[in-house]
Amino acid sequence: MERTLYERLGGMDAITAVVEAFRDKVAADDRINLKFARTDLARLRKMLIDQVCEATGGPCQYKGRGMKEAHAGMKVTNGEFSALVDDLVATLKQFKVPSREQDELLAILGPLKSEIVEVNSNEVGTALPDAFQPAPALMT
Ligand code: HEM
Repeated sequence: MERTLYERLGGMDAITAVVEAFRDKVAADDRINLKFARTDLARLRKMLIDQVCEATGGPCQYKGRGMKEAHAGMKVTNGEFSALVDDLVATLKQFKVPSREQDELLAILGPLKSEIVEVNSNEVGTALPDAFQPAPALMT
């Protein structure tokens, strides 16, 4: 039997390392970091790990908001979505994830675009609207 994408990515430790490096890359990227101004980054880290783990066939359960609800009112543009995908691909390359596994992960996440992008523009670095309500901080 073919191993799951989760196993081929290297399991929980590898996914955690990639998510943390990706989060740091996004935080330093002026094309998109304004959107995270009011976000609880500990929550985001956990949610991204669980989402990727579950979606790739790993033993996790994502318990966060749906993609539409999580990004509603954030006014993410097409250009900003592409910038985030850029950062993800750069992170996967940095961790030497083979191109087949990169493509499989992008094929899972890419289709979420229509639930996330609200503004059909190539502009990047647009502000987070004041009315945006961030998710509650993670309780640990
Ligand atoms: C395929 C692409 C994407 C995926 C898979 C994704 C996934 C997620 C997940 C799982 C969460 C956590 C939801 C929760 O806490 O319940 C989240 C939150 C968030 N996402 Fe995305 N996202 C994507 C694209 C983007 C883009 C393009 C931006 C902005 C440029 C963005 C900005 C945010 C922000 C700011 C939050 C935190 C919202 C808050 O504080 O409540 N995301 N995303």
